Amino acid sequence: MIIYYSSTGNSKHVALKLHEAFKGDIIDVCDFEQPSSFYLADGETLFLVTFNCFWGISNKIETFIRNSEFRNVKKIVAIITCGGYLGGGDDLIEKLFLEKGLPKPVVYSLIMVTNYSILHNVPSFEAQKRKLLRAEKTLDRIIEGIQRPYHSNGLICKITPKIHDQYEQVRTTVPFHANNSCIGCGICMKNCPVHAIEMIGNKPSWVQPKCDHCLRCLHRCPAEAINYGTTTQNRLRYTYEAHNSGHL
Ligand SMILES: Cc1cc2nc3c(=O)[nH]c(=O)nc-3n(C[C@H](O)[C@H](O)[C@H](O)COP(=O)(O)O)c2cc1C
Ligand code: SF4
Ligand code: SF4
Repeated sequence: MIIYYSSTGNSKHVALKLHEAFKGDIIDVCDFEQPSSFYLADGETLFLVTFNCFWGISNKIETFIRNSEFRNVKKIVAIITCGGYLGGGDDLIEKLFLEKGLPKPVVYSLIMVTNYSILHNVPSFEAQKRKLLRAEKTLDRIIEGIQRPYHSNGLICKITPKIHDQYEQVRTTVPFHANNSCIGCGICMKNCPVHAIEMIGNKPSWVQPKCDHCLRCLHRCPAEAINYGTTTQNRLRYTYEAHNSGHL
């Protein structure tokens, strides 16, 4: 069984490739409004695929895992896609499952392309392509069972909760806005995994004080009209799918 959560397509690609290799159910947490119950077949592995978020995972997927029920689980593999560095995210993910009485997961960090354009620019399209090719090879190794799992060291584990706490502070929606390029298509509203956006007067409004901060709205707006404050204004947008039409 593969459970995934993806904003700009990296983790979705990984989930689809795992599904090709291992079959079983593939579950997008965005199709669930509430936590749920899952029963694994004998010998089935539970895969979790999601994006690195401040050295942890985002609120939506964490809450989903925390509050869902998983039965007959003997093996868990977590693949966390990231832009560069997972920090002690392996430790946080291990704790999440262990606290539920589930087996300790095997964690892999898969460096793909960063979409966190609030902090730094997204690499150029050519650089993205190179990174994704490298990631594909690592993913093949994970599937073949020959890639070494990710282990952070004790010091990094110690500072990781502090780094991850910053996520709670930045996930305010206040800086989000759409500029005059907005064509009123409503894609941002439909795509938002936590329903934080409403269309008011043919333009998006962020109607919840906090969101999941996944940046799906920003990267998937067809008019590139959405920004977070001013930092993202002249920065590239990213989706995995831009590479998925024969380029890789
Ligand atoms: C809120 C947020 C925080 C992030 N934090 C990190 C981080 O701490 N380290 C990192 O390497 N990448 C970080 N990233 C980048 C994503 O983990 C990376 O681009 C991921 O592959 C995106 O997956 P997706 O396309 O499935 O959404 C962050 C992205 C977001 C939106
Ligand atoms: S996706 Fe972009 S263009 Fe469409 S409504 Fe939202 S901000 Fe406007
Ligand atoms: S408002 Fe945008 S960044 Fe926030 S959860 Fe919705 S799609 Fe993601």
